Amino acid sequence: MTDAALKLGFGPFTTPAKGVLVVFCNKGLKFGPATRKALGSTADLVARAAKAERFTGNKNSTLDLAVPAGLKAARLVIIGLGKMADLKAMDFLKLGGIAVGKLPNAAREATVFAEIPGGAMKPEQAADLALGARLRTYAFDRYKTKRKDDEKLPTRRYVTIAVNDVAAARKAYDPLSAVSDGVLMARDLVNEPANVLYPEEFARRARFLKKHRVSVEVLDTKAIKNLGMNALLGVGQGSVRESRVVVMRWNGGKAGEAPVAFIGKGVCFDTGGISIKPAASMEDMKGDMAGAACVVGLMLALAARKARVNAVGVVGLVENMPDGRAQRPGDIVKSMSGQTIEIVNTDAEGRLVLADVIWYAAQRFKPKFMVDLATLTGAIIVALGQEYAGMFSNNDQLAERLTKSGIETGELVWRMPLAPEYDKMIDSKFADMRNTGGSRWGGAITAAQFIKRFVNDKMPWAHLDIAGTGFDSRQTDINKSWGSGWGVRLLDRLVADYYEK
Ligand code: BES
Ligand code: MN
Ligand code: ZN
Repeated sequence: MTDAALKLGFGPFTTPAKGVLVVFCNKGLKFGPATRKALGSTADLVARAAKAERFTGNKNSTLDLAVPAGLKAARLVIIGLGKMADLKAMDFLKLGGIAVGKLPNAAREATVFAEIPGGAMKPEQAADLALGARLRTYAFDRYKTKRKDDEKLPTRRYVTIAVNDVAAARKAYDPLSAVSDGVLMARDLVNEPANVLYPEEFARRARFLKKHRVSVEVLDTKAIKNLGMNALLGVGQGSVRESRVVVMRWNGGKAGEAPVAFIGKGVCFDTGGISIKPAASMEDMKGDMAGAACVVGLMLALAARKARVNAVGVVGLVENMPDGRAQRPGDIVKSMSGQTIEIVNTDAEGRLVLADVIWYAAQRFKPKFMVDLATLTGAIIVALGQEYAGMFSNNDQLAERLTKSGIETGELVWRMPLAPEYDKMIDSKFADMRNTGGSRWGGAITAAQFIKRFVNDKMPWAHLDIAGTGFDSRQTDINKSWGSGWGVRLLDRLVADYYEK
C-alpha cells in the first residue's frame, strides 16, 4: 500500500459499524472505559479467546478475532501494552505501526481506539499512534508491475484514530504529519535505484521543497569548480553523471539570526571507484546518499511544519565510478579549504565529499552548529550494528542534546571518541593528509578525524555515521521498506527542543 492511499483521521470513541476494530489492553487484560463500552457483550468472547490463545496482554503481543460475535466490526484486534509502568513515550509510535501491521491486506477501514486502561491517550500519544501508522504503511513499490491475488490491496484505506478530544489530537498530529512527509521523502530517495537517482535527478527532487518556501540552489560542475571543491569533484570525475551541490534554506526564525546547518553525504552510487568494491551486496551502495536524503527530508519537515528557526541544508552529490578518467590511488587533490589530500583509497570517498561541503557551509553561513550525516564506514556497523548511529563531536552540549533527542525519538546515537592519536593516523608522506588511516582498526574514528580537519575548533559540530541505520534489510514496526529515513525525526526533535523559540 502506498502512503498516499492511506486516509488517516481522528474521530470520537464510537463503536465502528464495519471494518477492523483495534483496541489496547494491559498485562492482565484490562481495557479502558470507552473500549469496554464498545466491546459490550463481546468482552466474554474476548476473555475466552485470550485464554485459548494464551494471550495475556504482554507488550506488543496481539490477539486477533475474525467476525467477533456481538460486534458489527469484521475483525477485532487486541494489542497488549504490557505493564503500564514500563510504557514509554516512544512506545506509542511503535503501537501505531503494529496496529496497521495487523490489518489484513483486504481491509478498507479500521478504527483504532487510542485508549489505555487508565483512560484516553493524551493527544500527543494519539498523534504518535497516527505517525507510526503512516510510517508503517509506506511501501516503495513503484517498480512492481505484478501482484498475486492475496497481495492485492484496496486503493484507499481509511484509518480512524478514536480519541477523547478530536481537535486536540489533530493539532498534535499536524506537525508530525509534516515530519512524516520528510521521513517518507528521505526513504523514497534512498530506495530509488542509481540509474534513476543520479546527482542531477536528486537535485531536481530537492527542488520540490520550493513548494514549501525553501530556497533551493543547485550548483553545477562549473560553479563547484570555481569554488575550488576539488576533493568533491575528484570523486565524481569517473562518472558520466555530473556532480552537484544543493543548498537549501528555510528561514522561519528571526531575520539575520545565524542558522543551524545540516550537511549530507550524497554518493548516489558507490562502486568504490578504482579501489573497487567486491560484488557481494554492492547494490546496497545505491543508498550511499542516505545522509543527503535525510537532510532533504529534514528541510522538508522543518518547512512543512513552519519551524521557527533558520536552517540550511547542504548536500554534496556525486557518483563514484571506475573509469578511464577516474581518480587513482596516489592522486593528490587540493580541497576548498586549501589543504591537500593524498587519495590512498578511492573507496574512502564520502569524507572527500564532506570535506568540501562542510567547509563551504561554514564559510558561507557561519552557522550556530553543524551536524553532518553520512553512510561513511563499514567500521561503524562492526562497532554498533544497526541500532545506534555513531556520533562524533567536538562539543559536549551538542552531543548531549543529540543523545537526548535520540532517546526521545528512538533514533539512537552513541558517542565515539576523537583524539590526537587517531588524528596522527591520517598524516601523509606526500600531502597534508591521506584519506584513510591505513589500517582497518578504528576505521570509523579515523574517518571522523578526517572530517574534523575541515571544521573550525570553535564551531560546534557533530558527525553522525549512519552506515548502519540509513538503510536496512531489517524490518521494524514502523518501516517495512529498505530506506529508513533515519535522522529526520532525530534532527527535527533537536531543532524543536533546543533551537526554536
Ligand atoms: N559507503 C561506504 C561505507 C558503507 C559500507 C556504507 C556499508 C554502508 C554500508 C564508504 O564509502 C566506504 O566504502 N568506506 C570504506 C572506507 C575504507 C576504504 C577506509 C569502508 O568502510 O570499508
Ligand atoms: Mn566508499
Ligand atoms: Zn561511500
